[in-house]
Amino acid sequence: MTLLWRCHRWKIRSLTQSYIVFTVTGMIFIMVLYQNPVRRCQYEVSSSNISNRKELQERPSCRPLTHIFFLKTHKTGSSTIMNILFRFGESHNLMFALPTQNLAQFYYPYDFRAEFVESFITRIRPNYDIMCHHLRFQLTEVERVMPTDTFYFTIMRNPVSLMESSFSYYKSMDIFMKAKSLEDFLKNPYKYYNKTSITHSYGKNIMAYDLGLDRIQAQTPKYFKVAKKTIEAAFDLVLITEYFDESLILLKDALCWSFDDVLSFPLNSRNVTSRKVLSEETQEKIKTWNQLDWQLYVYFNTSFWEKVDAFGRDRMQSEVQELRRRRAAQSEVCLQGQVDPSKINDKLLKPFQAGYSRILGYNLKTGLQKSERLLCRQLVTPEIQYTEILSKKQYKQEKYRIAKYNSYRRQHIRRQWALLPKQG
Ligand SMILES: *[C@@H]1O[C@H](CO)[C@@H](O)[C@H](O)[C@H]1NC(C)=O
Ligand SMILES: *[C@@H]1O[C@H](CO)[C@@H](O)[C@H](O)[C@H]1NC(C)=O
Ligand SMILES: *[C@@H]1O[C@H](CO)[C@@H](O)[C@H](O)[C@H]1NC(C)=O
Ligand SMILES: *[C@@H]1O[C@H](CO)[C@@H](O)[C@H](O)[C@H]1NC(C)=O
Repeated sequence: MTLLWRCHRWKIRSLTQSYIVFTVTGMIFIMVLYQNPVRRCQYEVSSSNISNRKELQERPSCRPLTHIFFLKTHKTGSSTIMNILFRFGESHNLMFALPTQNLAQFYYPYDFRAEFVESFITRIRPNYDIMCHHLRFQLTEVERVMPTDTFYFTIMRNPVSLMESSFSYYKSMDIFMKAKSLEDFLKNPYKYYNKTSITHSYGKNIMAYDLGLDRIQAQTPKYFKVAKKTIEAAFDLVLITEYFDESLILLKDALCWSFDDVLSFPLNSRNVTSRKVLSEETQEKIKTWNQLDWQLYVYFNTSFWEKVDAFGRDRMQSEVQELRRRRAAQSEVCLQGQVDPSKINDKLLKPFQAGYSRILGYNLKTGLQKSERLLCRQLVTPEIQYTEILSKKQYKQEKYRIAKYNSYRRQHIRRQWALLPKQG
């Protein structure tokens, strides 16, 4: 009898022990999975509410990517790309890596660090899906934040029009402030350009700076080779502003997204009247002054068109036409038109103003149906307001996640106690 009882007790104990071993191993396994997602193991996006998926059916093996890093370069049309990512992420409930303290960017112009990301240093780290705010690129730091199967892309613009644009946009910053005009600045740039100033990145080779490259070595051909290799190793795709719609088609193809996913209206654009026509001489001076950016642009423009060739020029042409047709149709549904910021009725749709050029925005049509209104608003919400919306939404989710985790832990402990044999 005693023996039987002992045996029974032993059985219970061993059962309890194997239960504990089993759950602990299981938890460790789940934690490992959570930390290191298998490369290209994307979870499937529910496509039931994504219309026009026809083009995806031609590629049955293709799944929409949801782990995305976009290096948002300055004055390159990147705000429009950002809106596309915001919208996709919001409608699929993806997690954005956002700047801490509700900032609009990751402490640019400082070198990016993983700790600049909201919730990165908290104990339970979220699985980030998308990261797209301004930062100075440091691959190893971004890798600390994003899953290993992340798709990296960026956008480059012709440095000539880029400099014309940034001079007008950043005119109030100390490096440009004292120059009477862009021509005046270029006549003797070192008179104005101050390497120790915090805003110096805006004045010379700004794309190379955003990409985290070393601009001190910028002028040597050897360094150009290093720079180009570094970018090619880090980024899966480099878009070109001058071929914006072709870029969106290549992006759509690479991410396995639909036409409607990459639909967009131009955001953060200036009133054209503030755009200056530059003389040949000024254009050449800009190329010389931004030598590294210029070389990178020419190189990545060439490889961009090689990608278009691989995609097929005819196919590209017809897809660009389709994209433009859909954009025009959507604009017909949503917009009264692009207007001066003073004429925007809804404060939440007013873009941030900087420098001496007017950044235009949109007024939505009145009397939109509820189903149309959400998409129309998303399409024209400026990045600062959109970031706030996402942040609020995520913060709620974050609190919920922590609460859920704690309650799970409490329940788990309670269950463990219940299983232990009673003393005495
Ligand atoms: C799709 O959208 C409709 C209406 O907008 C909604 O009722 C339905 O629940 C959605 N389905 C999914 C799977 O999200
Ligand atoms: C350059 O900027 C630094 C830091 O803002 C400032 O201390 C220094 O006086 C500036 N030099 C010139 C020549 O303006
Ligand atoms: C970019 O590539 C296109 C197509 O090859 C070419 O027409 C254009 O001149 C290139 N731009 C520059 C600045 O090299
Ligand atoms: C652009 O500026 C010009 C001149 O200030 C003005 O007449 C025009 O209405 C503006 N365009 C828009 C779309 O606001």
